[in-house]
Amino acid sequence: MTLALDERRRAMLAEMGLSGFSVLPLASEERGATAQAPAAPPPAPPAARPAPAQPARQPIAEPAATVAPAAGAVPLLSWEELRQAVTECRACGLCHSRTTTVFGVGDPQPDWLVVGEAPGEQEDLQGEPFVGQAGKLLDNMLRAIGLDRQRKVYIANVLKCRPPGNRNPDPAEVAQCEPFLRRQVELLRPKIILAMGRFAVQSLLGSTEPIGRLRGRVHQYQGVPLVVTYHPAYLLRNLPEKAKAWADLCLALEQLRGQAEAGSGNSGL
Ligand code: URA
Repeated sequence: MTLALDERRRAMLAEMGLSGFSVLPLASEERGATAQAPAAPPPAPPAARPAPAQPARQPIAEPAATVAPAAGAVPLLSWEELRQAVTECRACGLCHSRTTTVFGVGDPQPDWLVVGEAPGEQEDLQGEPFVGQAGKLLDNMLRAIGLDRQRKVYIANVLKCRPPGNRNPDPAEVAQCEPFLRRQVELLRPKIILAMGRFAVQSLLGSTEPIGRLRGRVHQYQGVPLVVTYHPAYLLRNLPEKAKAWADLCLALEQLRGQAEAGSGNSGL
């Protein structure tokens, strides 16, 4: 690791309140590449990576649907059809107050799927998840483990529309949106899911147990390992909990390394 990089990542850990922790090597460093190597070209969907433990990923760049499908059709949609269905969704009252839907952002062939709660004000305006203060913390958490929102990571929310005034999602809204997230997982086939906050946990694990009781072990969602952690907005209000979030990231990394060692292909760690 170059000195500059090392310092930058130490600064990120410091921002997370984790100055005492060692800096993890970047994926490229573990593969022996230099830190200054040019960014990899955008991945070409569909995945060509060997992944014997999981079903092959499906093509995600297909012609857009022009008509919003019935909810029952969601499990059959291609990636672009799914995006279009979200854009056109009027299944619950949130469609009246939203500015735009927020489908997700990131690498179409990610190792990581990060799942948050719902768009906030800025996300609703910009159509991208986690662009506010909580998003800055999330970006720093990702950078601390050598990732960013465009590379090896996809970020999505339980709800694709902003609840007015940033109120909590209600159970009916979570239930309406659930097929969209489920289909995103099926098509993205991430190697690990990071479920951030109680609504992500409720939607993905169907559990109302507190985060504190669910974190620290690896769960499964559709055969994908899932690690539970605190939502970045919660961490901003409860700074001492950042150390636990760091431990959760490390658990997820360990899980990925385990997958790589078990011969499931290049984890990109
Ligand atoms: N919080 C979330 O859960 N998701 C966002 O996109 C922004 C803030």
